[in-house]
Amino acid sequence: MSFDAPASHLSVNGQEIAVDADPRRRLSDVLREELGLKGTKVGCDAGDCGACTVLIDGRATCACMMPLGQATGRAIETIEHKDALLTKLQDAFHRHGAAQCGICTPGMLMTALELMRATQTPTRAEVSDALGGVLCRCTGYTKIIDAVCDATGATTTSPPPLVSNVGAPVARLDGRQKVDGSDVFGADFAPQDALWVRVLRSPHFAARFTFGDLAVWAKTHNVQVFTANDISGRNAFGVIPAFADQPALAENRTRMRGEAVALIAGAPEVMRTLAIVDFPIDWQAEDEVLDPQPAKTAPLLHDNRSGNELITGHVACGDASAALNGSAQVVEGQARTSYVEHAYIEPEAGSAWMDGDTLVIQACTQAPVMDQEDTAIVLGLPKERVRIIPASAGGGFGSKLDVSIQPLIGLVTLKTGRPSRIVYTRTESMQSTTKRHPGEMRARIGADATGRITAMEFDGDFNTGPYSSWGPTVANRVPVHASGPYKTPNYHAIARAIHTNGPVSGAFRGFGVPQAAILQETLYDELADKLGMDRLRFRRLNALQDGDKTPCGQELHGVGIAECFDALVPAWAESLAWAESSDGDIKRGVGVASCWYGCGNTALPNPSTVRAGISREGRIILHQGATDIGQGSNTVITQIFADALGVGLDAIDLVGPDTAMTPDCGKTSASRQTYVTGKAALAAGAAMRMQLLRHANLSATAKISVANGIIEITDGEALRQIDPLSLPLVADDYVFEAIETYDPPTTPLDENGQGIPYAVYGYGAQIARVEVDMKLGTTKVRHITAAHDLGRVINPMLAEGQIHGGIAQGLGMALMEEYIPGKTEDLHNYLIPTIGDMPDMDVIFIEKPDPEGPYGAKGLGEHALIPTAPAILNAIRHATGKRITQLPALPHRVLEAIRA
Ligand code: FES
Repeated sequence: MSFDAPASHLSVNGQEIAVDADPRRRLSDVLREELGLKGTKVGCDAGDCGACTVLIDGRATCACMMPLGQATGRAIETIEHKDALLTKLQDAFHRHGAAQCGICTPGMLMTALELMRATQTPTRAEVSDALGGVLCRCTGYTKIIDAVCDATGATTTSPPPLVSNVGAPVARLDGRQKVDGSDVFGADFAPQDALWVRVLRSPHFAARFTFGDLAVWAKTHNVQVFTANDISGRNAFGVIPAFADQPALAENRTRMRGEAVALIAGAPEVMRTLAIVDFPIDWQAEDEVLDPQPAKTAPLLHDNRSGNELITGHVACGDASAALNGSAQVVEGQARTSYVEHAYIEPEAGSAWMDGDTLVIQACTQAPVMDQEDTAIVLGLPKERVRIIPASAGGGFGSKLDVSIQPLIGLVTLKTGRPSRIVYTRTESMQSTTKRHPGEMRARIGADATGRITAMEFDGDFNTGPYSSWGPTVANRVPVHASGPYKTPNYHAIARAIHTNGPVSGAFRGFGVPQAAILQETLYDELADKLGMDRLRFRRLNALQDGDKTPCGQELHGVGIAECFDALVPAWAESLAWAESSDGDIKRGVGVASCWYGCGNTALPNPSTVRAGISREGRIILHQGATDIGQGSNTVITQIFADALGVGLDAIDLVGPDTAMTPDCGKTSASRQTYVTGKAALAAGAAMRMQLLRHANLSATAKISVANGIIEITDGEALRQIDPLSLPLVADDYVFEAIETYDPPTTPLDENGQGIPYAVYGYGAQIARVEVDMKLGTTKVRHITAAHDLGRVINPMLAEGQIHGGIAQGLGMALMEEYIPGKTEDLHNYLIPTIGDMPDMDVIFIEKPDPEGPYGAKGLGEHALIPTAPAILNAIRHATGKRITQLPALPHRVLEAIRA
């Protein structure tokens, strides 16, 4: 688009460039959209997250806050700059695993570059200060500090070897593109001539609405408008088909703030300046109900769900009530938790286009096949006519399991035949996508005089918002886990998912288990005190052991929770001694808490299928459909496959998730990919190995290698060479092919929740040290020691990163994160931990193999977050003598408790 103003002259990465664009446009927008420098990421357009940081005249600056006109004539450096120091930093980030999803990485690197130019060997404190303005939601920041210190020569770390051995700290196979800015996230790809799409959303929690003359408005503004009337399929999506109830576009009625009611599509130059304040819609706001208790007697949000109850989950064994009555000591209490926002740095984004009669959608997601199914249903297409290509996801943590933009841009492209594109604003991302369920929980727990747990009762109401999303999963998973990893012979647990007009609550790292653990673990501290027992020893005494049964009646094997507690003993003694020196207004406290977590779907089929082939060129191709949202599945699953086949990682080419290219590896959730898809990859690798050995007629101990397109198999003195070019094709372009499926052996739960909900569990325990300012009510977490049983550590560097990141999110949940609809809808008002909030962290790996997991491995992704918040709350109680019962433990709540 031309402007009357002269072109702006920019100096970008040493090149002089004239840009014919409105000088009021954001520099970030111009760099990305006009100059194609997509390495500069946009997370908030408000200067809050720092993802768009570039150097301007050598100073780190948020490009989203600088108008193009102000950048004219100044030296701009972006992540694409060829600079020796930047390259050193990028290398260090890669080898330290400092980039997980990678969306914050360019901003981190550019900020670090400014520091590095000024200070050759910065201290960790200086790095922390310098990077304080850039948010990372994945890493917990420690590996970022490690990388910056290493890049400047403060420490030395050799790059990990590129070997396939399970257990090696292999650098992320998809890591290079994350540090050089070339990774393609949802907003980074735009088909030629794509229509830009915006969503009109409800400003009310509950409302009816009617449209005015849409055709006239659309014509006047040179755009197209689409509503629910344009949807030809079933206008109801949901991750659990039996409960699907959320309209892609609302029909006459909205049940939540931010609910989509219409789409506006037009050319970029029109959409860039389009004002929608005069959009012809008439709202009639209705009374909303935002809390579960009043919701139980409020008008129904869905006619078929009486009491606004979506579902109730229940597990019972023994006689909890009688056992509590007969217990030597009993504690009881309640806890409330808040909505927690996922706050990934990448707002939802993607594009759609037609390929023949197939609708193709490239967008950030955790669940491509579920997206394909939901989008096809909404748009009235056969599933085969929808192809989902996951873009790199700039964080997900559960929220990108549900469809968001997919049916919307799909509808625009289907109706117009033209490509379309959408990028959510930060506020609409926060308004419209799922949150962690707020919980209102009550429990009673008893123990005998020797300190053994006798019984537990748990009752929880979980605010699931107006639509089902993962509400059924939370309601079913919580009762299974609410005992914690402790022997609990008499047990009665109920969890209800209650509809309200709050945001939709869905999956968020733990599916309700972190909330339940907060109540159980904080009551355990009270119980230990009543019994006069050391809090760690009390937990160790009651820890589940091999052969024990869970409250679901499932006999467990490969249980490593006792080993986690044992590993914490030295840190516990040291921490208690540290806390002794409290004085003045700053009181020190120490807390411990644990976790267990079943990997995969609860008592439901949960298969993953992995395909591998050997091409005529002698390459081994791994079709791995698990979406890597930063947790490292691209690397970990390839390591497992490579070991099973017996080749090096460098012999393998990865085909990433794409519903047209990879079999269904299920969703990236419930800590299932390393275990479930890993097990399928193990089987595929073993099957291909068998084929090769059979072809070569050599024994199972033979060694396989690939060089110059030839597969060599040696067995003692025997050598066989297989030239793929000489072999017939067996499938597509492959001369060998293996396809293997793995589905965890679970059983349905009966009416008392008895059965086998998960085939594999992971375990962990953490110690938190805190300092509480008794006058201000502020809490500073000083140190976390985390011991986690992973069964087998497939990749220690990536596993440690997962634990660091989980701790960061647990700390946020404990101390600062509270999503309040209508009030905290951006990253300025919704606070997540910054680099300065993070404590020192020590990680201890426990490897107690699981009989079912690949090489004994268990899941980890959600486990790492669960113990952190209760450990911090127990430390606050240790420091202050008060149990905080409402999260987050904001200063006013801590003060209130202290003064009570
Ligand atoms: Fe920092 Fe994901 S790696 S936000």
